[in-house]
Amino acid sequence: MSNNGVIVKLEEISKHYDLGEVVVKALRKSNLQMKEGEVALLMGPSGAGKTTLLSVMGLLLRPTTGKIHFADNTYDSKTRQKILTDTRRKSIGFIFQAFNLVKSLTVIQNVEIMYKIGKLEKTGYKEKCKEILEMLKMGHRLDHLPKNLSGGERQRVAIARALINDPDLIMADEPTGNLDSENGRNIGEYFKQIAKERGTTILIATHDDRLKFCADRIIRMEDGNILNHDH
Ligand SMILES: Nc1ncnc2c1ncn2[C@@H]1O[C@H](COP(=O)(O)OP(=O)(O)O)[C@@H](O)[C@H]1O
Ligand SMILES: [Mg+2]
Repeated sequence: MSNNGVIVKLEEISKHYDLGEVVVKALRKSNLQMKEGEVALLMGPSGAGKTTLLSVMGLLLRPTTGKIHFADNTYDSKTRQKILTDTRRKSIGFIFQAFNLVKSLTVIQNVEIMYKIGKLEKTGYKEKCKEILEMLKMGHRLDHLPKNLSGGERQRVAIARALINDPDLIMADEPTGNLDSENGRNIGEYFKQIAKERGTTILIATHDDRLKFCADRIIRMEDGNILNHDH
């Protein structure tokens, strides 16, 4: 554990998208820290910078300026791609639309493939994939293809994929976007359970007020700024 249980800290992070004629300032000198086992919601209007913040914190995108302190390392605009990729694969799980399920693979294969990407050892993983899917109440759907699943079931497979490598950090972008309230609530319950049992730190960008029950705090963003980061 790092200082005072803080696992990740953004220090004066900005992210600019250079579009040639204009530069979009998606993050403006943001500071934020999260503790082990903490669940936070990231809320704010569309275009506020939520997805960008998750991407920079999750080491998918380099910041334009500032530093990301994660576990015992520091990353910035100059960190080599390979280091970012390796850290991500080992320690960070994503529930993003862009990382959706592989259509041609079954439920369990979708989870196995994430394991193979992340870890070096090649034995014992089938059991582990099954275990995680069972925890998420997907044990009866292991050999189904994504097209034969409901929206809530697909989202549970996405969560299993994010969990399989025991990440320290999970970044979830609008995870309940297409779900009815019961499924949305269940996803929130899983996040709570995962954070409590595994000490995973979870940041969830969402418009969904119904997820408030699962969060230790709410972080609000507007126009590239974090408005509050109190507990
Ligand atoms: N790849 C990109 N290239 C250029 N501009 C982008 C890109 N991604 C996001 N933006 C812009 O950055 C701002 C923040 O976007 P985003 O992080 O997606 O916000 P949110 O997730 O809160 O809707 C918006 O103005 C958006 O148009
Ligand atoms: Mg977004």
